[in-house]
This record gives sequence, structure tokens and C-alpha cells, in this order.
Amino acid sequence: MALQLRVYVPPHPLIKHWLAVARDEATPSVLFRSAMTELGRWLTYEAIREWLPTVDTQVNTPLAPCPANFINPEVPLVIVPILRAGLSLLEGAQNLLPLASIYHIGLVRNEETLEASMYLNKFPAQFDSQTRVLITEPMLATGGTITTVMAELTQRGIDPAMVRIISVVTAPPALQKLNVAYPGLVIYAAAIDEGLNERGYIVPGLGDAGDRTFGT
Ligand code: URA
Repeated sequence: MALQLRVYVPPHPLIKHWLAVARDEATPSVLFRSAMTELGRWLTYEAIREWLPTVDTQVNTPLAPCPANFINPEVPLVIVPILRAGLSLLEGAQNLLPLASIYHIGLVRNEETLEASMYLNKFPAQFDSQTRVLITEPMLATGGTITTVMAELTQRGIDPAMVRIISVVTAPPALQKLNVAYPGLVIYAAAIDEGLNERGYIVPGLGDAGDRTFGT
């Protein structure tokens, strides 16, 4: 059977709550940042459920030996925040995965052509092929930025099946593009919105995630 992109929208009241706070135009930047941190936390919690590798072992409780599972320390874990706005989800993700390495990548969108261009790439020449990658990207709109980042990762040995994306608001154009280019991908999002306006913004969306996070 052909692979298909999977997009999960967890029906969690905390995700719904913090999404509502983030969407509200009256939310000030300081509270918007808190909402994004919380969304980063809860979307990461959901996204790593069947992704984080564990090892079976045994511990001795004060009373008896007991089977136990630990997170496998030998599998490299990586978080990739896509600058700028992806930084807003990083703290929440990093709180749950404190041993993950963070590899930054920065892209900026041309407001007229809507094309993304890369201005920063801290990726190594090659990743270990076992590496699990969690990408933080709050807005999946046209799909230009995320497909560029996926290409940079796969060129360096990352298997798309090992990647999870957490995103706050997604839109059909980005999901369609990802489905064609990387059908094995899995996304955890707070919402799938209707579409984009003529400036490439998600509608209803939450506005410019970078500007609202950094108060610019
Ligand atoms: N980037 C944003 O910050 N917001 C959008 O709606 C689309 C892309």
C-alpha cells in the first residue's frame, strides 16, 4: 500500500485552550509566547508516543526486581527549530527531550514571491542514519519552508520515517506538497485551517507567528 502523510490533531483540552489563546488577536506577546511554549510541550508529548525508542531492562525496587523501560540512550535525538517562529515551540519540546541536540536552520519568506530562502544552516555534513528528528514549525502554510528543510535533512542521511513535525496551524497547500514529496511523514498539529489568503497567510490562522512571538 502506498504511504500517505499522516496529520494528527490531538483532541486534548490543553491544546485547544492554548490554540485559542494564540489565535486571539487581543493576546499580548508575553502571553502568546507562553501559549506557544505550552503548545510545544503538549504537541511534543503527543508526537513522541510511538517514536521515542526505549530499551527493556530490569530494576530492583526496594521490594523486588521489576521489568523496566528506559529511553534508549544510543539513539540520537535531534530537535530542529525552523527560525524564526520555530523557536517559539522549542522550550516546550526541549523540556520533554532535555538530552536532544538542537540543530538550528533559518529561512525567510519573500513577501512577494512567497519563496523561502535559507540564511542559516547548522546541520552537520551527515547525520547518523538512526537519528530521530523533531521539527518545530508553528505554521505550515505554502509548504515551501518545510520542504526545503526536509530536503536538507534527507540529503544528510535522515530517513523521513524517523521525522516528526509539530506545528500549531497547518493549511492544505503545505499538507498536499508534503504528501507528494514525503508521504511517510507524520505531523502533529493543533489545527488544520481552511486555506491561505493572497499574501500566503493561513486563514483564520493566528497571524505572523514570528512577529507575535518576538513582539515585532
Ligand atoms: N507564517 C506565519 O507566521 N503565519 C502564516 O499565516 C503563514 C506563515
